[in-house]
Amino acid sequence: MSSQVSKITVPILQKMKLEQRKIAMLTAYDATFARLIDQAGVDIILVGDSAGMVVQGLDDTLPVTMDEMIYHCRSVVRGTEHAQVVGDMPFMSYQASLEDGIRNAGRLVKEGGVHAVKLEGGAEHAELTARLCRIGIPVMGHIGLTPQSLHQLGGFKVQGRSADSKKKILDDARALEEAGAYSIVLEGIPASLAREVTAQVKCPTIGIGAGPACDGQVLVVYDLLGMNETFRPKFVKRYDNLAVRIRTAVESYVNEVRQSEFPDEDHSFSEEAPYSTAKRSAVANDVEASGAACIPLRPRDPKR
Ligand code: KIV
Repeated sequence: MSSQVSKITVPILQKMKLEQRKIAMLTAYDATFARLIDQAGVDIILVGDSAGMVVQGLDDTLPVTMDEMIYHCRSVVRGTEHAQVVGDMPFMSYQASLEDGIRNAGRLVKEGGVHAVKLEGGAEHAELTARLCRIGIPVMGHIGLTPQSLHQLGGFKVQGRSADSKKKILDDARALEEAGAYSIVLEGIPASLAREVTAQVKCPTIGIGAGPACDGQVLVVYDLLGMNETFRPKFVKRYDNLAVRIRTAVESYVNEVRQSEFPDEDHSFSEEAPYSTAKRSAVANDVEASGAACIPLRPRDPKR
């Protein structure tokens, strides 16, 4: 790891809210995606239990285990130099007892190498949040549409539309802040409510389907890249259409193999050629040869 890369920390994120600088967070589940996302300048990488859906192909996040999360966290941490890495506490790793919550949060930090943990739920987890903070494990809260409560909520539905639900979300945000949460994810709530929560708590709010007033935003990286053509919720903006681009690239490979066009001489060893000759990556050479556009790395924000 380069010693010149500045790390995003809890105090930096709190300062960003004070200075009204927006926080960009994305999910990742492996080292390759983490490296690319980190190089592009995100502030926080969330190793989400959404891994269950986008990596494992499950219908929801409920079956995801601690051991699976630790595997994903370790991989992401290896690919990250700059961003803060947050590990998601999977369903039933913290709900049954305080002791479970403390031990499992500790495992994510100790075995997974993450810098903070995320818990779904509000006031009911205030005590756990406070205990973790005292131990030195930063906690990111997560309220509104909490996917681990999908059966209780009756599906993936916008929360905070009734007076009771709105009050609960405001109360939960205050309870988490008082307990010491350093940030709170607001998922699937009206933009006006997210604005109110953001104004009332001192810690940064990170929105997903919660409108533009939050202190930061998070998306599942595969959604942003357009890798699942059948998943089209209103809050997802696709910045690319990788589903099409990946299929096209793979079709070219399949065709070239079938036509005996790959591997050609350029991609075969002679008697003397070393395993790798290029100073830049072979991928960069191949992409350039194919005429595809290269996207330059974004410079880091010098204020961070
Ligand atoms: O698991 C996840 O990816 C999340 C984000 C969508 C906030 O919880």
